[in-house]
Amino acid sequence: MLTNFLIADHRDCDALFATAENAASDGDHATASTAFAGFEAAMARHLSIEENVLFPEFEARSGMAGGPTAVMRMEHEQMRAMMLQMRRALDGRELDDFLGLGETLHILIQQHNMKEEQMLYPMCENALADSAQALLERMRAY
Ligand SMILES: [Fe+2]
Repeated sequence: MLTNFLIADHRDCDALFATAENAASDGDHATASTAFAGFEAAMARHLSIEENVLFPEFEARSGMAGGPTAVMRMEHEQMRAMMLQMRRALDGRELDDFLGLGETLHILIQQHNMKEEQMLYPMCENALADSAQALLERMRAY
């Protein structure tokens, strides 16, 4: 249940990212800018949901505070830093730089999402089974 919601959110973020990248490779700065702004907002929300709702709950219930969630938090910071660089490139109309950074971020996100979807989310499902419904509502309302 938690996994389905979070995976769908990953896919929504991916779709916005793909739209921004496609527009940038077409040289369409305006569309790239709008789509990337949507991606930035969707990612900010997704990362915050994990860091402020899901991870703390998992850490408290599993007693694993220095484990997988610590790694995920670190990777979130790497993604935020990459997104900031991409924003600067986009605002400076450096579409080639934007696309180059985008390739790196794309790989980073794919690897990160795979770890979450295949390992961490199932661990959360197990640890938080009895509070999944309430957690899901908190995540939806975030
Ligand atoms: Fe994450």
